[in-house]
Amino acid sequence: MTTLLQINSSIHAGQGQSSQLADVFVASFLENNPETQVIKRDLADETVPHLTAERFGAFLAKPEERTETQRSVIAYSDELILELTQADILALGVPMYNFGIPSQLKSYFDHIARAGITFRYTSNGPEGLLKGKKAYVFATRGGVYAGTVLDSQTNYVRDFLGFVGISDVVFIYAESLAISPDIREESLARATVETRRLAA
Ligand SMILES: Cc1cc2nc3c(=O)[nH]c(=O)nc-3n(C[C@H](O)[C@H](O)[C@H](O)COP(=O)(O)O)c2cc1C
Repeated sequence: MTTLLQINSSIHAGQGQSSQLADVFVASFLENNPETQVIKRDLADETVPHLTAERFGAFLAKPEERTETQRSVIAYSDELILELTQADILALGVPMYNFGIPSQLKSYFDHIARAGITFRYTSNGPEGLLKGKKAYVFATRGGVYAGTVLDSQTNYVRDFLGFVGISDVVFIYAESLAISPDIREESLARATVETRRLAA
């Protein structure tokens, strides 16, 4: 059975335009593959704490030497990673906020980058350990950035996912969403068609 993990990172939770595009993907995918198991994680509904030195210390501590607090940090990070490990396909809703990804998503990334678990260093350089997955990134923006040097998100998200082993990544853009209602509708309609096509 295929497992699809949807991760929303809009501050508007399920109402976000990026979340709604991810929803379209999941619904279309389910129509075509009814046996699919869907796991949903909304980072606005359940915020991942910022990474602190204390939390990062839990990642570095030897298992037998972890304090109770460190054990709970590890248990939380393990839970996020378990969902990823189970997933064959990822659908990520990623709006652009102030030229970057939402801080909620950065905190999530900070909790799933774990040496020895999601990546490891080898004599040939870093190796991602989350293999055999495909990710779809639903990138929504008020302006237009795709293909320009101002697109700080695409390379970053691709590089991060690649670092943990997810190298098959497709971006679906809905841009110009703040220009005018007509342009927004047109852009969302185009992205929705593209999303349905990819889910088919
Ligand atoms: C706090 C905030 C910051 C934003 N910063 C940018 C930005 O830097 N560039 C841009 O093109 N759009 C920006 N926008 C517009 C959003 O990218 C756009 O509305 C997007 O559709 C939001 O997706 P969401 O509805 O899934 O949250 C910003 C919106 C918010 C709320």
